[in-house]
Amino acid sequence: MGRAFVYVILGGGVAAGYAALEFTQRGISHGELCIISEEPVVPYERPALSKGFLLPEDPARLPSFHTCVGANEERLTPKWYREHGIELVLGTRVKSADVRRKTLLTATGETISYKILIIATGAQALKLEEFGVSGSDAENVCYLRDLADATRIVNVMQSCAGGDAVVIGGGYIGMECAASLVINKINVTMVFPEAHCMARLFTPKIASYYEDYYKSKGVKFIKGTVLSSFEMDSSGKVTAVNLRDGSQLPADMVVVGIGIRPNTSLFEGQLTLEKGGIKVNGRLQSSNSSVYAVGDVAAFPVKLFGETRRLEHVDSARKSARHVVAAIMEPDKTGEFDYLPFFYSRVFTFSWQFYGDNVGEIVHYGDYSGGTFGAYWVSKGQLVGSFLEGGTKDEYEAIAKATRLKPEIEDLAELERQGLGFALAV
Ligand code: FDA
Ligand code: NAD
Repeated sequence: MGRAFVYVILGGGVAAGYAALEFTQRGISHGELCIISEEPVVPYERPALSKGFLLPEDPARLPSFHTCVGANEERLTPKWYREHGIELVLGTRVKSADVRRKTLLTATGETISYKILIIATGAQALKLEEFGVSGSDAENVCYLRDLADATRIVNVMQSCAGGDAVVIGGGYIGMECAASLVINKINVTMVFPEAHCMARLFTPKIASYYEDYYKSKGVKFIKGTVLSSFEMDSSGKVTAVNLRDGSQLPADMVVVGIGIRPNTSLFEGQLTLEKGGIKVNGRLQSSNSSVYAVGDVAAFPVKLFGETRRLEHVDSARKSARHVVAAIMEPDKTGEFDYLPFFYSRVFTFSWQFYGDNVGEIVHYGDYSGGTFGAYWVSKGQLVGSFLEGGTKDEYEAIAKATRLKPEIEDLAELERQGLGFALAV
């Protein structure tokens, strides 16, 4: 049994949705494009799962957040894919790939062949078992990567209203889920090994601003330690979390966000890997010329930094997906992907954006007592990174533009004095 397509997108997440839109805008014929996804639904904006989806009132539900609403583009419903003659193979895992033969074998036993393959398999949540702790499959231990996980969190939250949650990990999932749990009136304790939250990005000063707010909402922080085991009742439900420092936290539910692993395993030994992802060039083409990779799974050259990076953020998934389709369909007119890294988050009424790279010396600016504030990173005499909380659209555009231009900075004290005004004047 087998089918053949000109283009196959492997994975049905954010990047797949944006690539599909770009294919149709550039003009493909019915039957040329196929999307294969383990998820049973057409691509959606994954960021909604830790935000609007978890709200107690008027929560976001599909079909409202299918791609590409996150970039104020068309909302691609199953009907849209049908009308554009895009073949959807949903709820189906690809279990092996042969890039020499240009075939994919699905778990249902079908062989799907392609002329051009776009790998958009994203990533999977790291499990506690990988750190030597068992109990991930207990009914009240939750991870968050896909719609099924988010639906499960909602159900578990509803079953323990007013109870205690332990959030493991102080990264994006930890911070966004902790805020959502608080909004659902659940008591939250966060546990993570670092000295402050969002350690991969935030400075201690930025982190302490948000941590103070979380504390004012009743969130407790236990830092510098990790969990060692769970206490379970006879039905296999977690009742408490034991920490390595010897203390114990009561738990009606646990949310785990301890990082991800890119889904590269189908291609190990077949394609060149780097930084944990599939290495691609500025055209997002892998070491096999018929295979491209985008989104969380791709390690691509970031021109601005002069090095290969793998980014785990939605803007990079959207833009790399659009670029790859341009590179495939109009190779002569399409240059190298020239991407300015952009990360953001929204929790409670906060909203921040970050552009560039967080290396070098740090200059904080603005009002850290509750107003608009931010930071710049200066490396080798140039501005390389900018963070802003509570900005307007124009202000965010200004820090993005300034970071892309990498202006020379001679005097850090002067940069601090000018603050946001510096970016607005660039
Ligand atoms: P994505 O994970 O979206 O899609 C991968 C797809 O491939 C899935 O459908 C998967 O099932 C499928 N797949 C994998 N292996 C397969 C196989 N063998 N066979 C078939 N299908 C397979 N970023 C940001 O910048 N701001 C934000 O606010 C957020 N918020 C956020 C919240 C939550 C809860 C998560 C989990 C993530 C975010 N992110 C984010 C990160 C952002 O969502 C992420 O960078 C993009 O979803 C990456 O898009 P991809 O298409 O690369 O992978
Ligand atoms: P992350 O990398 O942001 O954070 C991982 C956290 O795990 C670390 O901060 C650390 O505190 C913690 N940790 C590591 N080892 C641990 C251990 N043994 N015990 C306890 N804690 C440990 O990853 P995440 O928060 O799991 O997010 C998953 C993915 O989803 C990431 O790719 C992230 O970029 C993406 N995401 C992004 C956003 C956003 O951009 N706003 C929102 C949600 C999720």
